[in-house]
Amino acid sequence: MMGIIFSACTSCCAVLFAVLAPLYSFLLYFTEDGQKLQDVLYELTMETSVPIVFVQQKQIGDYDKTLKAHKEGKIQKLLETKGHDHVQDSYDYDLIVIGGGSGGLAASKEAAKYGKKVLVLDYVTPTPQGTRWGLGGTCVNVGCIPKKLMHQAALLGQALQDSRKFGWQFEEKVKHSWETMTEAVQNYIGSLNWGYRVSLREKKVTYENAFGEFVGPHTIKATNNKGKEKFYTAEKFLIATGERPRYLGVPGDKEYCISSDDLFSLPYCPGKTLVVGASYVALECAGFLAGLGLDVTVMVRSILLRGFDQEMANKIGEHMEEHGVKFIKEFVPTKVERIEEGTPGKLKVIAQSTDGREIIEGEYNTVLLAVGRDACTRTIGLDKVGVKINERSGKIPVSDEEQTNVPYIYAIGDVLEGKLELTPVAIQAGRLLARRLYAGATLKCDYVNVPTTVFTPLEYGACGFSEETALEKFGEENIEVYHSYFWPLEWTVPSRDNNKCYAKIICNIQDNERVIGFHVLGPNAGEVTQGFSAAIKCGLTKAQLDNTIGIHPVCAEVCIHHKSNLI
Ligand SMILES: Cc1cc2nc3c(=O)[nH]c(=O)nc-3n(C[C@H](O)[C@H](O)[C@H](O)COP(=O)(O)OP(=O)(O)OC[C@H]3O[C@@H](n4cnc5c(N)ncnc54)[C@H](O)[C@@H]3O)c2cc1C
Ligand SMILES: NC(=O)c1ccc[n+]([C@@H]2O[C@H](COP(=O)([O-])OP(=O)(O)OC[C@H]3O[C@@H](n4cnc5c(N)ncnc54)[C@H](OP(=O)(O)O)[C@@H]3O)[C@@H](O)[C@H]2O)c1
Repeated sequence: MMGIIFSACTSCCAVLFAVLAPLYSFLLYFTEDGQKLQDVLYELTMETSVPIVFVQQKQIGDYDKTLKAHKEGKIQKLLETKGHDHVQDSYDYDLIVIGGGSGGLAASKEAAKYGKKVLVLDYVTPTPQGTRWGLGGTCVNVGCIPKKLMHQAALLGQALQDSRKFGWQFEEKVKHSWETMTEAVQNYIGSLNWGYRVSLREKKVTYENAFGEFVGPHTIKATNNKGKEKFYTAEKFLIATGERPRYLGVPGDKEYCISSDDLFSLPYCPGKTLVVGASYVALECAGFLAGLGLDVTVMVRSILLRGFDQEMANKIGEHMEEHGVKFIKEFVPTKVERIEEGTPGKLKVIAQSTDGREIIEGEYNTVLLAVGRDACTRTIGLDKVGVKINERSGKIPVSDEEQTNVPYIYAIGDVLEGKLELTPVAIQAGRLLARRLYAGATLKCDYVNVPTTVFTPLEYGACGFSEETALEKFGEENIEVYHSYFWPLEWTVPSRDNNKCYAKIICNIQDNERVIGFHVLGPNAGEVTQGFSAAIKCGLTKAQLDNTIGIHPVCAEVCIHHKSNLI
C-alpha cells in the first residue's frame, strides 16, 4: 500500500516526505497494476494522489494535506496522543469485555495499561428472589469473599468453645447474630465494589453497567437497567460472563428456594436449612451454616465432591456428620411447597430416592440449591457472530490462547469448557491474554497443577491428581501414596477431633517419585497448599520433601515427614 506512517520526529519526517512523495507517484505510474492500485486506494481513502499519509492509524491525506497538517502542528499532536493510539478509525474500542468479574476486570485493566481503549460491560441479572449486587462478579459478591468470611464466622464460634479450655471465662450464653454478620460482610463487599470502580477509572477503562449482547460482527448492544440501548464496535472482544446457579426444574424451585446468589445477603437467619447438592458450594455453605449453630441437612444425589480425591471427600463428609450435619444420600427433591409464610417461613420438600423406590418428605425454613452452575452464554448473541458453544453445557471451547472459533473473539474464566472454575485462574488467563494481545508477550495460561481449597469446617487443600485419577493414568504399579493422620497441637488442649486431620501425597515412581498429587485436610489447608503447590510446579520429588526440614509445631510439617507422628 502506498501509504506512509509518521512515527517519530515530525520535522525529519517532513523532509523525508518531500523527497518520497514524487517517488511514490513515479512508482505507481510505472507499476504493472498501477491503475488498479490507484482505484483501490481511491475507494478506500477518497484520495486521488499518493502518497496517502496515516498517523497513528488516522488518515491525514495526500502530500498537500499532510504538509498543511504538519504546519498546523496537528501531526505532532496526533503523535503525542497516548492511550487511545491504536483504535482503528472504524471501531469505537480496541477491546470490549463482556463481564466485569474476576477475569474481565483483570484483562481490561491489563489491556488499558498498554494504551488500549477498553470498555467493560457488567450487568447482574437479578435472581428469581430479586437479589442483585455491584461490580466485581461472582467471587467478590456472591462467591469466594462472602463465603470465606462466613466460614471464618463459623470458625470463630469453634474457637470460642475451645477458648474456655484455654482459660477464658465468660458468663453469658454465646449467641450469633446473622444480621450483624451479614451487614458486616455486605459493607466490606460494598467497599470492594467501590474500589473496583475507582480502579477502572484510574486505569482509564470505560465501565458501563449494561448487559452486553452481540448483534453483528464486531458490534455489541449494551442495554442498561432502564432498557436504554447503545451500540458499540470493537476490534476485539472478550467474553467473561461467568456462570449463574442452576435450578432443579421441579415445582416450587424458583419460587421458594434460594441459591448461593441469595444466601450471603439474606436479610434474615435462614433457620433449619436443606442444602441440595454435594459439591464445593453445597458443602461449604452447609459447613458454615452448621458452624453458626443452624440445623442443616445435605441432600446428596450420588457422591460428595465429584472430581476430587474420594478418600478426602468422604473424610470431609464424616467430619461434618460428627459435627451435626445430617446427610440424606441418593435422594433428589421433586417438589417444594410453601406451608408457612414468613422470613424465613416454612417449606415442605418432597424427595425421591435415585432408584425411584422411595418418597420422603421434610420441613425446612430454607432450601438452598447448590446443584451446579450454568455458563452465561445462551443469551449474549453468540449465534449472531458464529461463536461455537458446547450445546449441552453452554461452555465455550477455546484454543490454548483462549481464542474462540471466531478469531477476534476471546473467552476466559468460568465460561470456558474443560477449565477450572476458580478466581485466580480467570485472573491469570485474563492478564496473560491482554499481555499477548497488546504487549507482544507469548506466555500462555498454564492450567496444570492449579491448587484449590474447599472451605468446609475441616478445610481441604489439593493440588494435582486425585488418587483415583493418578491410578487410572499411570497404573497402580507406578504410583506410591504416602499418608499420615495428624492432630493439630491447638486442638489437643480442647481435646477435639483427634486423628481427623489427614495428609497424603501421590508420587510417580517412574519419574523419580515426583509428587503428582498433594492433599491435606486440616486447619488453614489453603495456606499450606499454596506453598506446596509452588514446589510441585518446580517439579518436587519425594526425596526433596524428605530432605526439607519442617517447621515445628505446625500442621504443614506433616506434609513433609509422611508416615511419622510428630506429636
Ligand atoms: C459460592 C461460591 C464460592 C466460590 N468460592 C471460590 C473460592 O473460594 N475460590 C475460588 O478461587 N473460586 C471460588 N468460586 C469460583 C469463582 O467465583 C469463579 O471462578 C470466578 O468468579 C469466575 O470469574 P469470571 O470472571 O469467569 O466470572 P464472574 O466472576 O462470575 O463474572 C462474570 C460477570 O459478568 C456479568 N455478566 C454476565 N453476563 C453478562 C452480560 N451479558 N453483559 C454484561 N455482564 C454480564 C456477571 O453478572 C458477572 O458480574 C466460588 C464460586 C461460588 C459460586
Ligand atoms: N473453594 C473454591 O475454590 C470454590 C468454592 C465453590 C465453588 N467453586 C467453583 O464453582 C464451581 C461450581 O461448583 P458447584 O458446587 O456449584 O457445582 P458442581 O461442581 O457442578 O456440583 C454440582 C453438585 O450438584 C449435584 N446435582 C446436580 N444436579 C442435581 C440435581 N438435579 N439434584 C440433586 N443434586 C444435583 C451434583 O451431583 P452429582 O455429583 O450427582 O452430579 C454435584 O454434587 C466448581 O467447579 C468450583 O470450581 C470453587
